[in-house]
Amino acid sequence: MQAKTPDSRLLNRLKSIVGSKGWCASDSAGKYFADPRGHFRGNASIVLLPSSTQQVSQVVAACNEAQVGIIPFGGGTGGVAGHMEISGSLPVVLSLERMNAIRSVSIDDETVVAEAGCILASIQKIAEQHGRRFGLSLASEGSCTIGGNLASNAGGIQVLRYGNCRDLCLGIEAVMPDGSVLNDLKPLRKNNTGFDLRHLLIGSEGTLGIITASALKLSPLPEDSVTVMCVVPAPGSALKLLHKIRNKLGETVTAFELMSGLGVTLATKYFEALRNPFDGPFEWCVVAEIEGHKGIQWSLEEVLEQELEQGNIVDAVFAESRSQSEALWNLRELAYEYNQKEGAICSSDTSVPVSQIEKFIELTITAIRYLDDGLRANCYGHIGDGNIHVNIFPPQDVSKQAYIQMHPGIQETTRMIINETTHQCGGSISAEHGIGRLRISELQRYADKTKLAVMQTIKTAIDPNGIMNPGAVFEAHGQPTQILSASSEG
Ligand code: LAC
Ligand code: ZN
Repeated sequence: MQAKTPDSRLLNRLKSIVGSKGWCASDSAGKYFADPRGHFRGNASIVLLPSSTQQVSQVVAACNEAQVGIIPFGGGTGGVAGHMEISGSLPVVLSLERMNAIRSVSIDDETVVAEAGCILASIQKIAEQHGRRFGLSLASEGSCTIGGNLASNAGGIQVLRYGNCRDLCLGIEAVMPDGSVLNDLKPLRKNNTGFDLRHLLIGSEGTLGIITASALKLSPLPEDSVTVMCVVPAPGSALKLLHKIRNKLGETVTAFELMSGLGVTLATKYFEALRNPFDGPFEWCVVAEIEGHKGIQWSLEEVLEQELEQGNIVDAVFAESRSQSEALWNLRELAYEYNQKEGAICSSDTSVPVSQIEKFIELTITAIRYLDDGLRANCYGHIGDGNIHVNIFPPQDVSKQAYIQMHPGIQETTRMIINETTHQCGGSISAEHGIGRLRISELQRYADKTKLAVMQTIKTAIDPNGIMNPGAVFEAHGQPTQILSASSEG
């Protein structure tokens, strides 16, 4: 079913549901149509900013009756165009930003109930104010929202310790495509009463309903934190190091990220304040956050000394202050920005079984170099989760535009190479960013056929009019499947 564009009668009805502060006209709504990767421009007939679950419910019911498409909007930070219409039709954008209340915090239950429009960093802050931690952390945490995080089952840098977004959610409230409200906010750790609709909605990218609030799990705050950066001979050594730390120090590894020497060079090239903390260039390093009991640094130093003796690490530096820690983490967290500045022609969000990481990186780099041995690759990311982002750049001193002009189709080719090596290593084409509108044809190509068929059956059953985020995740009828050339997300 093809979603329709609202007529003026429906637009007036929607405006009256949300009130005068609850909408803006599409021509003054720039931020809702911006693609953080700068490839696309979204569009809509109106942007609605409801302030309550009841308003969301009324809006959705009205759109469903008229078979008008709705695009749920969180912080607009997604990398796969899941939050924007790019095919030319004019749906309704529904931003949850005014629903940003913390409804409750319970220390006994170790939960916070937050509305969908809460910025992730503000939830982290509230948790800290109560002596707890909310374990989700990603580069865009200052602007992404928990609703968007849940809709896309965000990952980030602390998955090793706290899990993906779905692992941090105990309950949700959501508006279903007919406007009915799913009230499932109880902060229960165990609840086997039929299908768990929470997990169906989390990660469905707004195609099955709109999450309006969630009960989120909090954890204890560690007593002590250490930021360390180690040069390693190869990605496999990084994994050995991770296992060694976990074996000796238990579950103290909050984050453990692989970086390439190229990545650090680009960080220092584009961000003047950043420095390579080591004496010279290197090929691979990890930056890690180890957290636990007071004095954990001494236990960690013992492990690292042994690793140095055995040649599994080459060098190590510890942050000696909060600002040094931030500087080390900036080398990693600004990756998305410096990759863009350097002109990535392709970037991936790959996951493979952890045992296959080294093979995946080797196969990919070999295949890319075979295509053109001047191409440069920055492979980095959440190595402990098997989630590596590969970024491919033109040869040194050649601009992205010039290179693409000289090599038509190069973006599709490099992307295909990464997809194929991912597939060969038993991996996934989307580890944490989702499918959105950018990865539909790849989902169709690589996903299990039964999974695709069941997904379609569920979609049709829950959203028979196809109004929820039309064009995302599922192939839109009558529209070509997507646009690979501009895809750059990691
Ligand atoms: C990161 C984003 C791209 O890990 O997922 O930097
Ligand atoms: Zn990532």
